Amino acid sequence: MKLDNRMYAILSHVDKCRVVADIGTDHGYISASIAERGLADTIIASDISEKSLLKAAKLIKNEGIMNVELRVGSGTSVLQDNECDTLIIAGMGGALIANILAAESRSFNKYILSPQRDQDILRKFMSDNNIVPLNDYKVESLGRFYDIIVAEKGKYLPLESELFFGSGFGIDFVKFRYYEIARLQAIISMASGDKLKFNQKKLNLLNKLVKNHNND
Ligand SMILES: C[S@@+](CC[C@H](N)C(=O)[O-])C[C@H]1O[C@@H](n2cnc3c(N)ncnc32)[C@H](O)[C@@H]1O
Repeated sequence: MKLDNRMYAILSHVDKCRVVADIGTDHGYISASIAERGLADTIIASDISEKSLLKAAKLIKNEGIMNVELRVGSGTSVLQDNECDTLIIAGMGGALIANILAAESRSFNKYILSPQRDQDILRKFMSDNNIVPLNDYKVESLGRFYDIIVAEKGKYLPLESELFFGSGFGIDFVKFRYYEIARLQAIISMASGDKLKFNQKKLNLLNKLVKNHNND
């Protein structure tokens, strides 16, 4: 199974546990890799799409994996009470991840979240709902930057810059920041009105975050 840096990063945060749930598993790579590494007794691989789960079913059959349970359904509705220790939700937008978490009143020992856009919406939700990142960093994978957020229940009071860009720590953050500054500057040079204001604000926040860390 060929994994990318983003998936390796997600796997690196899965401690040995009883049950991991991989919500929105799609192709099933993350679930199958957890099983192959013996990181959990049982892996619940779920997806809202039956078609996606068929891909995961094919993969686990081909790999001869026995301890991945496939479940169709939205978000964490597929889980029974106290069934799961570690919750993984990766490869969706931050607003969708926040909606999935908002529909869930139970809490989990560990959350491994990887939003692909609208990261600020997810972090704001986390802050409002007492989910605190223990680790929040960027990883470069196949020419793109991804957010990896490892969290547990607890108070989270992020700066506005952290809502957008995470903690600002980690090796790939330096590369990300050069990339993102150039990207925002290019948008600003062509934008007007609200788009200009929003992207200028993001650029200012990113510069502020970098400056704060340089002074640490
Ligand atoms: C891009 S794939 C991500 C696959 C994998 N988690 C990863 O990170 O590589 C997103 C998957 O989320 C599923 N999905 C979207 N909304 C969902 C929901 N509310 N509950 C469960 N799965 C959902 C989609 O069907 C799709 O298979």
